[in-house]
Amino acid sequence: MNYSRILGTGSYLPKKMVTNDELSKTVDTTDEWIATRTGIRARYVSNQEETSSYMGYHASLRAVEAAGLSVNDIDMIIVATTTPDKGLPNTACLLQERLGVTHIPAFDITAACAGFLYALSIADQYLRGGIIKTILVVGVDVLTAVTNWEDRSTCVLFGDGAGAVVLQVTDKPGILSTHLHADGRQKDSLTIPTWLPGQRKDDEPAYIHMDGRAVFRFAVKALGQVVEEALAANNMPQSAIDWLIPHQANLRIITALAEKLKLPLDKVVVTVDRHANTSAASVPMALDEAVRDGRIQRGQTLLLEAIGGGFVWGAALIIY
Ligand code: ACO
Repeated sequence: MNYSRILGTGSYLPKKMVTNDELSKTVDTTDEWIATRTGIRARYVSNQEETSSYMGYHASLRAVEAAGLSVNDIDMIIVATTTPDKGLPNTACLLQERLGVTHIPAFDITAACAGFLYALSIADQYLRGGIIKTILVVGVDVLTAVTNWEDRSTCVLFGDGAGAVVLQVTDKPGILSTHLHADGRQKDSLTIPTWLPGQRKDDEPAYIHMDGRAVFRFAVKALGQVVEEALAANNMPQSAIDWLIPHQANLRIITALAEKLKLPLDKVVVTVDRHANTSAASVPMALDEAVRDGRIQRGQTLLLEAIGGGFVWGAALIIY
């Protein structure tokens, strides 16, 4: 039987970090308000050069190196992003060109903060099917480019970054299962209006709008259900999880899920305090951090989850 195995991980953070205290000089907020409500203390904000393809490129190089491969070993590139460099070509093509592997399929998928889980699931199907041997999956976003820096209810929440994994087909257990969901009825809870100038109403800027409380309520319920679904599908008890690698949107959502899983917080990889919500990059960046600092070891069981605007959400159970 075929499985997909994570061979290597990588990530990239923009050069500029902005703390809550720095933010509170330009918008009516405080470090105390942000940290208490969200757990966030700082975020990284990209400059003009640090686009999705640029950050994705640097994260990818690190993942390929960690995998012990060369870029020429990659057979497919999937990029999860809501903030592509351009309308056309897709970010995966721009990344492919930067990597210099211009003969392989490359495509983007858009599933907001759950984009990496969606991309991972697609890659897993190709690898299990034995169609392709090695896939580069990247989660990257520059949400600060679509953030209204005068809106304190949203601008404190987001940051930029990229995370990447190299997956390869193997006959030993790797990704055990992935579980994806969507509910388009929740489309107005978290949205970025179109950025196509011809379709924009009254020149409305393309900023993130969010009903924070609605997102919070839905996220806690949906994530609780999807992690239970993942465990049940593998007949696995909660106690089998070595590491929870959650979407890094809000420490209170993360804590609620850890409590539901009866997992102590030292079994949960948390980066939201330093990275804020980096959307599709949040899970692969957290994974990379815990792999590189030695917390995550080969053979351990990982539970990944994420939810984003749509709503779209998902989970993956993985033997690392
Ligand atoms: N600083 C100071 N005060 C603020 C700020 C701020 N940055 N933002 C809002 N406030 C004020 C509001 O104006 C309001 O004041 P009022 O009572 O005088 O009207 C008060 O604080 C309470 O505002 P709420 O929005 O009700 O605050 P809440 O306790 O719900 O916290 C938050 C807001 C942190 C956004 C919370 O709802 C949340 O975490 N929701 C989840 C959303 C999330 O995680 N989104 C990330 C993207 S979605 C995703 O990735 C799934």
